[in-house]
Amino acid sequence: MLTILVTGGAGFIGSNFVRLVLGKRDWRVVVIDKLTYAGSLLNLREVEDDPRYSFIQADIADHAAVSEAFDRWQPDMIVNFAAETHVDRSIDGPRNFLTTNAIGTFELLEVTRQYWSRLELSRRRNFRFMQISTDEVYGSLGDTGFFKEDSRYAPNSPYAASKASADHFVRSYNKTYGMPTLISHCSNNYGFNQYPEKLIPLTISKALASESIPIYGDGQNVRDWVFVADHCEAILAILARGRVGEQYNVGAKCERTNLEVVSEVCTALEELMPAEHNNALLATRCKSYRDLITLVPDRPGHDRRYAIDCSRIERELGWTSRISFEMGLRVTARWYLLNRSWSQSVKQGRYDGRRLGLTVVAPRGKERARTGTA
Ligand SMILES: NC(=O)c1ccc[n+]([C@@H]2O[C@H](COP(=O)([O-])OP(=O)(O)OC[C@H]3O[C@@H](n4cnc5c(N)ncnc54)[C@H](O)[C@@H]3O)[C@@H](O)[C@H]2O)c1
Repeated sequence: MLTILVTGGAGFIGSNFVRLVLGKRDWRVVVIDKLTYAGSLLNLREVEDDPRYSFIQADIADHAAVSEAFDRWQPDMIVNFAAETHVDRSIDGPRNFLTTNAIGTFELLEVTRQYWSRLELSRRRNFRFMQISTDEVYGSLGDTGFFKEDSRYAPNSPYAASKASADHFVRSYNKTYGMPTLISHCSNNYGFNQYPEKLIPLTISKALASESIPIYGDGQNVRDWVFVADHCEAILAILARGRVGEQYNVGAKCERTNLEVVSEVCTALEELMPAEHNNALLATRCKSYRDLITLVPDRPGHDRRYAIDCSRIERELGWTSRISFEMGLRVTARWYLLNRSWSQSVKQGRYDGRRLGLTVVAPRGKERARTGTA
């Protein structure tokens, strides 16, 4: 039986991936997760009784703990989801992003290199280290064009910079040591178990609580949305058939402005829980969830548009997204309605729905005058 080590498996995409693997493959799955505010064992409840599943609470930057896990479980592949992932938090406190996303990935690569170089030849050849990266490393697009695998790296947020740094280390371990690495760059995910600080679950939770639904800036920033199960299938395809040393962009050709996304979430909620039956909403004198939408000051450095060219993974690996945005959004909204206690539990004492990432940055001219630098 093959063993896959999944870091960050108690988070949003990682836990969806663990469920998919245990459902579709006869593999042993070992999750390593630090259980930060964003990770929860509630996300893995469905698999906790599966004898093929094991959980280790550890930091990927903890070389000794990760080494011990490798020694004990002798993995055949590793998928690195573990990361600090919220751009707004990276604005308020970039250090954690450097520590986990860049240094953590480096430590993981080091442990993997030591382990991998001792494997016998055929296991060494078949071994895979897969890095789950993001389209955000490519920066921002104008009104036209798409991110391709050879697009220039131009990270704009500390989050994107830390993920870009990790990608460069992963690439270097392939070029320098010949380690069999793979990198995926996926666009914005949505679906079950996404932490309620991110746009879609935040909108649902604000709407249900009849609180104002914040949209940054003019609401016209564009993201390319993919349902999490489609992303997880793409990762399986890349692990199985991806060319070693390569990068694959993953997306669903589904560009939407933030305003469109929030409006569509409100429409889905109207169908599932009509505003006229929601007493809390009626008490605010709003007639529909849409009335709660409020434009708020923009995020510093907010990328304007992301759009993914995913023709490589479609052409070479035969993967394509299957779930339409309309369908994915409805099942997601329904999941959050049915799992309100999950949202409460994962937020409890960790996140109160407050706006993050508004650190005031000195205007460039003033900064120069103060520091005297060019
Ligand atoms: N969510 C998206 O839209 C998206 C899109 C593209 C790529 N990604 C990438 O996918 C990965 C997973 O994203 P997500 O949205 O599921 O994130 P998430 O924030 O929901 O989960 C991250 C998980 O990593 C764990 N973790 C954090 N620091 C750790 C550390 N030092 N050691 C071990 N575990 C640690 C957390 O406890 C949590 O379980 C990330 O690498 C992210 O950059 C996300």
